[in-house]
Amino acid sequence: MSIIERVAELLGPIERSNAKSSASSAPNELDLIERAVRESDEASRSPETREYAAKPETHAVALQLKAKPRPAGLTKRPSRTLIVDRHRLQRQGMIVPDSKRTPMAECFRRIKRQILANAAKSKVGAPANLVLVTSARAGEGKTFCAINLAISIALEIDRTVLLVDADVAKPSVPQALGLKVEQGLMDVLLDRRIDLADVLWNTDIGRLTILQAGTAHQHATELLASDAMRLLLLEMAERYHDRIVIFDSPPVLAASEAGALASQMGQVVMVVEAGKTSDAVLKAALGVIESSNIAGLLLNKGDRPGHDYDYGGYG
Ligand SMILES: Nc1ncnc2c1ncn2[C@@H]1O[C@H](COP(=O)(O)OP(=O)(O)OP(=O)(O)O)[C@@H](O)[C@H]1O
Ligand SMILES: [Mg+2]
Repeated sequence: MSIIERVAELLGPIERSNAKSSASSAPNELDLIERAVRESDEASRSPETREYAAKPETHAVALQLKAKPRPAGLTKRPSRTLIVDRHRLQRQGMIVPDSKRTPMAECFRRIKRQILANAAKSKVGAPANLVLVTSARAGEGKTFCAINLAISIALEIDRTVLLVDADVAKPSVPQALGLKVEQGLMDVLLDRRIDLADVLWNTDIGRLTILQAGTAHQHATELLASDAMRLLLLEMAERYHDRIVIFDSPPVLAASEAGALASQMGQVVMVVEAGKTSDAVLKAALGVIESSNIAGLLLNKGDRPGHDYDYGGYG
C-alpha cells in the first residue's frame, strides 16, 4: 500500500471520529504522514516488496492502485509555459539556447549522446530513460550539470526531456532558471487528488518540461525512498517512456535516500568536482550505488577552458 493510500486510510476513521470528539484529541495530518512514511519504509525492507520490484507484471497492478479517481470539481490546470531567464543561464555559465556554440555546450553534447545511446538499448532492471545526476557531497555541481544536460537534450530535434528537481529538501532548479516556485513532486506524493500531469510545466526551451520539487515538507527527503516515490518513478518511466527524465538530487553521502533513488534509475551520472572530490569520498559515494546503474563519471569545474568535463564509463 502506498503512503498516500495509507494516509487516506488513517484519515478516514479520524475524520469520522472528529465529528464526534474534539479535534485536539485526534492525531494531526502530519502525524499520520509520519506514520505512513514509517510504515512504508518498513514495507520497503520486506521480502514481499523486493519481490514486487522484481516482477514486471505486478507493476501494472500497483499502477492501477495508484490511479486516483479525480474528485468531482477538480479541474485540470490550463497548460502554461514557464519562461526561462536566459541572462541568468549566461551569468551562471550554463548552456544558453540559440546562442553560439561554446566549449561547455560541446561537452554536454558529448555526454548527451552517451545518455541517449544508453537509453535506446534495452536493459534488464531499472528503466534506462530515468537518469539521476548526483554527487558525493554538496556544491559539486549536480544542479548545474543536470540543467545543462536537460537543456542540451531538449535542444535535440524530436527529443523531449523532463527535468525533475528531486533535491526536495533544498530545491534549486527554480532559482537557477529564474522560475517562480510551483507545485511539484512533493505535492503529487502527498495529495492523492494531484496527478503527475497537473504539475508538469512546459518551458520556452525546445521540448523541456519541468517537475519542480513542490511544497516544502519536513519529511521531504525521506519521501524519496518511499513506496509512493517508487510507484511514481514506475509511472514516469511508463507514461513518458519516449522521454528522457533527468533528476537533480541530494548528495549521496548526505542523504541515504539518494542511494535508494539511484537504485530506481537506469542511468546514474556521478559528478566529480575537479581538484576537490577526493578518491576516498568518491569511492564511498560509488559504494552506495549499484555499479550496473552507473553510466559515467562527470568531471566538473576543471580549470582548462574547453576541458572542463570528462565523461568516462565506470564499471
Ligand atoms: N562547471 C561549472 N562552471 C561554473 N560554475 C559552476 C560549475 N559547476 C557548478 N558551478 C556553480 O557552483 C555552484 C554549486 O553548483 P551546484 O548548485 O550545481 O552544486 P550542487 O552539487 O547541486 O550543490 P547542492 O548539493 O548544494 O545542491 C553553483 O553556483 C553553480 O552555478
Ligand atoms: Mg543542487
